[in-house]
Amino acid sequence: MPLSIVILAAGQGKRMKSDLPKVLQPLAGRPILSHVLDTAKQFNADAIHIVYGHGGEQVQKALAAEPVKWVLQAEQLGTGHAVAQAMPAIPDDHDVLILYGDVPLVRQPTLQTLLEQCNAKAMGVLTVVLADPTGYGRVVRDNAGNVVRIVEQKDANTKERAIGEINTGLMAVPAASLRKWLAELKNDNSQGEYYLTDIIVMAVRAGMKVNAVIAPTEMEVLGVNDKVQLAQLEGSLRAERARELMINGVTLADPARIDIRGKVTVGRDVFIDVNAVLVGDVELGDRVRIGPNCYLKDCRIAADTEIHPNCVIDRAVVGPRNVIGPFARLRPESVLHGDVHIGNFVEVKKSEIGQGSKANHLTYLGDATVGSKVNVGAGTVTVNYDGVNKHRTEIGDGAFVGSGSMLIAPVKIGPNANTGAGSTITKDAPEGKLTLARARQVTIEGWKRPQKKPKE
Ligand code: UD1
Ligand code: CA
Repeated sequence: MPLSIVILAAGQGKRMKSDLPKVLQPLAGRPILSHVLDTAKQFNADAIHIVYGHGGEQVQKALAAEPVKWVLQAEQLGTGHAVAQAMPAIPDDHDVLILYGDVPLVRQPTLQTLLEQCNAKAMGVLTVVLADPTGYGRVVRDNAGNVVRIVEQKDANTKERAIGEINTGLMAVPAASLRKWLAELKNDNSQGEYYLTDIIVMAVRAGMKVNAVIAPTEMEVLGVNDKVQLAQLEGSLRAERARELMINGVTLADPARIDIRGKVTVGRDVFIDVNAVLVGDVELGDRVRIGPNCYLKDCRIAADTEIHPNCVIDRAVVGPRNVIGPFARLRPESVLHGDVHIGNFVEVKKSEIGQGSKANHLTYLGDATVGSKVNVGAGTVTVNYDGVNKHRTEIGDGAFVGSGSMLIAPVKIGPNANTGAGSTITKDAPEGKLTLARARQVTIEGWKRPQKKPKE
């Protein structure tokens, strides 16, 4: 059967108490809605419709690159009304899979099972059994166990409220019947809304089978309504991703203390200490070791490199056998070749550092090209910014930059050149020579310390 997917995302999400629409709140670093969309895209659907309302422009902008059809629900008149907005664009011979934009962790296999319950003579509804079903629509079954209707909390009697099986809201329904039923919905209930759930009674009346699929875990069908639930889902995803890393051979000092907000690719025997935050695409080669409290974003770290504690690495490429940190910051567009040492309180920005070069202490290397086997002394600064433009510094192979050198760019330090400690280098330093640029030291003979004047 051809398939149309409808994602309901028009709700306001008042309980988030946020200016950001609920479905754009970040979960594992990405909008909640993107997680739903990822799962939806795993089906070969003819179209994915997103029903939007409140904050719509912001949602559309955030997901502008996605292959979806946007359907406006100008007024939030209920879940049934929301689905009805998408129906004009859906042909009668389609199956319709209804998802919620704020139920992000549902898995493809579960939805596949749900979809298999749907045909011309049957529809599927995803349910789950909760210890505390308060607030949800209850699934009412007859004595034979057939689903006969769904009753909302606010419309339910005491007996119905005691039912533990609830409606997750996710359904699979044949389009032709769905269209007919949605047109017949009434809002004569306690909330004055057009309930999608009322189609169940209509289906039963039409002699159709309503097949309930019970979700394998509660987490899969948990909706996000406030920041507490958001944190619950985040925790669940975190645990899952930590587990995946361990399955792939990574040793985690503590699986509860790692945050993965993106995709991490790993080699063999990687070790990650506590409080690592990995964002975006992170690639860790064989035997890479990450010390405690490191933030790694969109970066590649080659084999046998050790990152000491408290480093920030953002869009940098780190070669093999490097030693980085503690307290180092590698900024975007930095490329470090093999056997490089970047030590404490060293910042590297948009620079290439050659094989075996070292900058071990208190240094800024920005817009620099550093050759191989270079030693950059403590407190060196590439003075790359004149207040208007950025300029490059080039340091040749084997150069030795004395501690406290100010390299006023644009400037070149030749291969095997030395600069004297404390030099302010404004002109190119030639190959193989010592260049000094500092005031000559003098000692004043007969100098006396000033004396305190006697009080009058
Ligand atoms: C709904 C179900 C309830 C189920 C619960 C699961 C109905 C009548 N009730 O209740 O049986 O147990 O979900 O969480 O369907 N939405 C729109 N437009 C609207 C209203 C809602 O797009 O006019 C979207 C929301 O953004 C959300 C979803 O539909 O993604 C569910 O809406 P919500 O208000 O949370 O539904 P409930 O009333 O809690
Ligand atoms: Ca809800």
